[in-house]
Amino acid sequence: MNGSSVKRLLRSAPCFALLLTYSLAGAQLAQAQTRAKTANTNDRPVPRIVQESGRYALLVDGSPYLILGAQVNNSSAWPAMLPKVWPAIEYLHANTAEVPIYWEQFEPEQGRFDYSVVDTLLAQARDHHVHLVLLWFGTWKNGSAHYIPEWMKRSPERYPRMTGANGRTLDSPSPYAVEALQADVHAFTALMRHLKTADQQRTVIMVQVENEPGTWGSVRDYSPAAQKVFEAPVPRELLAALHKDGGAPANWQAVFGEDAEEFFHAWSVARYIEQVAAAGKAVYPLPLYVNAALRNPLHPSRPPSYESGGPTDNVVPIWKAAAPSIDLLAPDIYLDDSAQYLKVLELYQRPDNALFVPETRNDPAYSKYFFAALGHQAIGFSPFGMDYTGYSNSPLGAAKITEESLAPFALNYKLLGPMEREIARLNFEGKLQAVAEEKGQPSQALEFGAWTANVSYGLRQFGPGENPPGNPEPIGRALVAKLADNQFLVAGFFCRVEFRVSDATSGKQRQFLRVEEGTYENGTFQPIRIWNGDQTDWGLNFTSVPQALRVSLATY
Ligand code: DGJ
Repeated sequence: MNGSSVKRLLRSAPCFALLLTYSLAGAQLAQAQTRAKTANTNDRPVPRIVQESGRYALLVDGSPYLILGAQVNNSSAWPAMLPKVWPAIEYLHANTAEVPIYWEQFEPEQGRFDYSVVDTLLAQARDHHVHLVLLWFGTWKNGSAHYIPEWMKRSPERYPRMTGANGRTLDSPSPYAVEALQADVHAFTALMRHLKTADQQRTVIMVQVENEPGTWGSVRDYSPAAQKVFEAPVPRELLAALHKDGGAPANWQAVFGEDAEEFFHAWSVARYIEQVAAAGKAVYPLPLYVNAALRNPLHPSRPPSYESGGPTDNVVPIWKAAAPSIDLLAPDIYLDDSAQYLKVLELYQRPDNALFVPETRNDPAYSKYFFAALGHQAIGFSPFGMDYTGYSNSPLGAAKITEESLAPFALNYKLLGPMEREIARLNFEGKLQAVAEEKGQPSQALEFGAWTANVSYGLRQFGPGENPPGNPEPIGRALVAKLADNQFLVAGFFCRVEFRVSDATSGKQRQFLRVEEGTYENGTFQPIRIWNGDQTDWGLNFTSVPQALRVSLATY
């Protein structure tokens, strides 16, 4: 495949399937990157998500991109608030800001669109050299419809809310509200059409369709329109996707038993959103995703103890079948239990789903999970509420947002910012492993074939490493990536990394040929010094200083 055919592939949506089978790694990827660097702005490829061997990359300007994200507070995407947003984004060294687009602002009168805020966001993001992920606060925002425009709010009969099991109206939009769907399709399409022309620079790299859609307080819609569909046969395409086809047509209750109502609501919400997403994507094919308010991943109960209808882990296959225009389903992780957090990462890293953490708690202790997410090949990570507008979502985040509270997240991005393209590529190629410290687990082993990287926590920089105690708080984190045979990229905070020969029976021992500290500039590792002596005799010790090492190994 020559350079121009790669270019055509990158631009051509129907060729996405081909991209799945053709490797973008190696030479082709390098060609795409070179072209992207020399391309003029109008020549920039539309960002897209590609998959190879079950691993994913978000391609921005033709090469894998790692979202070092920060999501602003809900009411912070107004021009008047932006002076309190950008200083936080800058301090964090984020490369991507996640900001809402409010339907109520965007379409103040039916059919009249106000692009001024979008345009302000585009211009100011460019001034601050960051990309944007736009969050379409449309029909759903946290299970309600609080962002629909006033002209819709004034006509609840045209844009109905859901009906609960007891016949009462709920504060959640009905996925069977036909006129609301048409209006959302119209508005979202207008947004995407505008981006297509106003954003030739590809400042916007991804769009979230709705926000935590679904319903709190009821497992499903019991309106007559919904009830009719619930009693009708389950759509064949869903049965086929779940490998339940072949039998006689049967309704939801008959096919899914005690899960019927929840599965029905997931399908209903996802079908609605699919229509919004498909219409927008048809005019401008940016990557699209939907975020989920989670259920307990280890000990799940049943709705309404969690939000029903959104892409919780148990209904991901239903969402995949219902909403093929949605590129990925993304967990908003506010869980405060570490085992649950890690389980969520595992559940959303699937062969059919790229892991992206679009929201997570912003208290300092959660900064380590960025590395855990990378270890699950995340294409990005973004704590929530990262601005200086004075709002705190405590107890789901830090009580106050200050430089001090942001510092641990800033460290992560400061370390990886200069090499985010390399990290994204290495992860896409399956060469990177990353971990976060767990309480009571003071060491972890990362296997790389002939070499094992042992990560341990709580040790001094100087001295032997038996029986590491763990850090007083489990804040350690590390990543190791294979650059070549016997050569690794190593980085982290509050940890020690030791390499050893994996085969303990070989009689061989490890020696460092060279340990170089440096960083990547324009895709090339630039060493600033060689570590030796105390700096390597007791393993490779990382503190709170952002440091990356290129480590070359041999045996003796
Ligand atoms: C999750 C939602 O998606 C956000 O918009 C925000 O409401 C946070 N919860 C608050 O913690």
